[in-house]
Amino acid sequence: MLAKAVTIAQQKGGAGKTTIAAQLAVAYARAGMRVGLLDIDPQGSLAAWYEVRKALVAEDGAGIAFVQASGWRLSTELDRLRRSVDLVLIDSPPHAETEVRIAVRAADLILVPMQPSPMDLWATGPTLEMARKEKSPALMVFNRTPAKGKLVDAVRRKIRDAEIPVAQTVLGNRVAFAASMMEGAGVVESNPRHAATREIKALAEEIAAKLGLG
Ligand SMILES: Nc1ncnc2c1ncn2[C@@H]1O[C@H](COP(=O)(O)OP(=O)(O)OP(=O)(O)O)[C@@H](O)[C@H]1O
Ligand SMILES: [Mg+2]
Repeated sequence: MLAKAVTIAQQKGGAGKTTIAAQLAVAYARAGMRVGLLDIDPQGSLAAWYEVRKALVAEDGAGIAFVQASGWRLSTELDRLRRSVDLVLIDSPPHAETEVRIAVRAADLILVPMQPSPMDLWATGPTLEMARKEKSPALMVFNRTPAKGKLVDAVRRKIRDAEIPVAQTVLGNRVAFAASMMEGAGVVESNPRHAATREIKALAEEIAAKLGLG
């Protein structure tokens, strides 16, 4: 059976794609799933995190397999990974090159992180358009959300008007996400009782429900 795949895509740089890919992977792995991470970003920041993880957490990635692929190898590597794990998460670069299109086409869900601001909302258009063209359902998720502010509600209303699905779960502006990654971990492992952990677990569950995973 082929595992479901989620591509985390957002053409705007720095939206939190790599952070969310790693944090979700750890959340699923700690819930007992075998997770495959596929990095198609030549920047290789997820690869760097995984290297630290192998050195500091567990040589085998502690429930997470990692593959970096580009070009003609991408589809083959993705298929191979989908046969060996329960769920694949794909981290993509901040542009719209062929690889991203392939990953968006192949995925069961496109997760689109976005900071709740007008600029970020406007910048999200091309990514959503790509998902629509490739006939893959998209789910936006607010990331780096300030603790207080009516802005989130305002942006949420705009998105609702445009009939774009938005995750119920909102990820806050939390240093714990980056701090855990310095150690090759995720917040679920390093800060089990932190608000960041509650948030990423809630997002993982919301996505699993959307994918029809137990
Ligand atoms: N929820 C969050 N709270 C605080 N900081 C965050 C959060 N999410 C991401 N960051 C920080 O924002 C920066 C960009 O995050 P990240 O590298 O994950 O984005 P990206 O979309 O993968 O970027 P790129 O487009 O360059 O690949 C990093 O410094 C990261 O630690
Ligand atoms: Mg990245």
